[in-house]
Amino acid sequence: MQELREPGTVTLHDGRKVVVRDIAPGDCSAVSAMVIDNFRHAGNFDRLDDAARRAYVQANSIEGVREASAHPDNIACLVAVDVDTGSIVGYRLVRRGVHRLDGHAVAEGKRLHVARSFTGQGLGTALVDFSAQIARRCGYPRMTAQASGNSRQFFEKLGFRCVLEQAQNDVLKQRSIESLIAYLEKPL
Ligand SMILES: CC(C)(COP(=O)(O)OP(=O)(O)OC[C@H]1O[C@@H](n2cnc3c(N)ncnc32)[C@H](O)[C@@H]1OP(=O)(O)O)[C@@H](O)C(=O)NCCC(=O)NCCS
Repeated sequence: MQELREPGTVTLHDGRKVVVRDIAPGDCSAVSAMVIDNFRHAGNFDRLDDAARRAYVQANSIEGVREASAHPDNIACLVAVDVDTGSIVGYRLVRRGVHRLDGHAVAEGKRLHVARSFTGQGLGTALVDFSAQIARRCGYPRMTAQASGNSRQFFEKLGFRCVLEQAQNDVLKQRSIESLIAYLEKPL
């Protein structure tokens, strides 16, 4: 796993404060619950078919989150914690990868989730920025994103450029499940 770093505090647009820090083993259950809630209810996943939705939910079970957070290729695995309640309200995973088009090393954005009651407040932007700073410090020249549904527009607002329209989700493809994403990149 990536080295431990100092936590950072972010003030959201509505004044709420969250701490962004490295994930800890005790966070996996709350992260899993938040991510599964998103797969079931966030508008962005409306167009997922049942097989893809089941696969996403399974990959983000408590054990799935635990495995993902301990992966040796992780560059950053971060959670955002609401300062008032101590609840986990954000999750960001970035891993060492290779660019789909040119094979160069990239910081690959694997997961990004904001709790539904915290969207629209700048937290998704803060999590991407935080992970980009870490990847830049580690020497990665680019970050990529696999965007489902309308999250493509979110990444484009943050300066990512779409370089592959209608690409397959590579993890689901290995399980013979078709799910289209937009593949985007941003220089760091
Ligand atoms: C997509 C997601 C991470 C955005 O997080 P967020 O905290 O709401 O984003 P921010 O508040 O930082 O928004 C930044 C900008 O992007 C815009 N934006 C956010 N989500 C958007 C969307 N789905 N479509 C278009 N624009 C979007 C915001 O309006 C804002 O624009 P502004 O700066 O002009 O006001 C969040 O909605 C989420 O977790 N969704 C479910 C999981 C998901 O789709 N993950 C993406 C990877 S597949």
